[in-house]
Amino acid sequence: MKKKLQNSPVGIFDSGIGGLTVLKEIRKVLPNEDLIYFGDTARVPYGIKSVATIQKYAIQDVNFLLKKDVKLIVVACNTVSSNAMDILRTKFKNIPFVDVLIPNALYASQITNNLKIGVIGTPATIGSGSYRKVLKRFNPKIKVFSKMTPLLVPLAEEGFLKGEITRLVLKNYLGGLINKNIDTLILGCTHYPLFEKEISKICGKKISIVNSALQTARTVKNILEDNDIENRKETFGNIKIYLSDIPVNFSKTVYKFLKLDLKNGIEKVDIEKY
Ligand code: DGL
Repeated sequence: MKKKLQNSPVGIFDSGIGGLTVLKEIRKVLPNEDLIYFGDTARVPYGIKSVATIQKYAIQDVNFLLKKDVKLIVVACNTVSSNAMDILRTKFKNIPFVDVLIPNALYASQITNNLKIGVIGTPATIGSGSYRKVLKRFNPKIKVFSKMTPLLVPLAEEGFLKGEITRLVLKNYLGGLINKNIDTLILGCTHYPLFEKEISKICGKKISIVNSALQTARTVKNILEDNDIENRKETFGNIKIYLSDIPVNFSKTVYKFLKLDLKNGIEKVDIEKY
């Protein structure tokens, strides 16, 4: 049984390309694991949808990954992590989940000095108050300043990761948070690390940028090791990508910004069936 789990893949999902920032870090810390990614590109963005719709989509995404016999599921989406974890954990009791919210918030709470933390995220993430709740649980003295930043996901999906339009949007979104004297900024959406260079330029050196990918990858590694189910093979694991729609520039954008060559590994899936 353990041997079977050791050889099973890790499942990862997001609404689109954002979760690939998490996949990339998982690949670095766990190079031997086989990874199966599902991006719900036909229904992206999730972050402006109702909680009921986000939960319905999340259940379908998990049903799909379970058909691939995954041993653990990484919810590489802050919107789902903020709005659907209870329902996923209740409905799917036999599979361990790693969300992106807790590792991100924990790390931010550990590195802030002045206890003023900014969070940017989708309307559904910020509207849920998830980061505020979790950060306050880690340290009740932390002050949280949040901002909904709904234009960033469409910009990322379209490959607008730098340039004048993106810079203007980012400046507009971040100005108010910078004025609050935050020393830490949480990128509360897995699409946002794609803008990290531009965001760092706008925030300057005094603000630490926290992105969920690295912390989440470390959490996955710890869970696999603690349960003795990490893959023991000595060769690189396979990466297989499933999308609910294949946008024209998907591979190009992914290669350009994540340096992941996905040309042969992408397959379309009808997610409404699950
Ligand atoms: N990347 C996702 C997140 O972390 C989803 C964004 C969206 O689809 O709106 O929230």
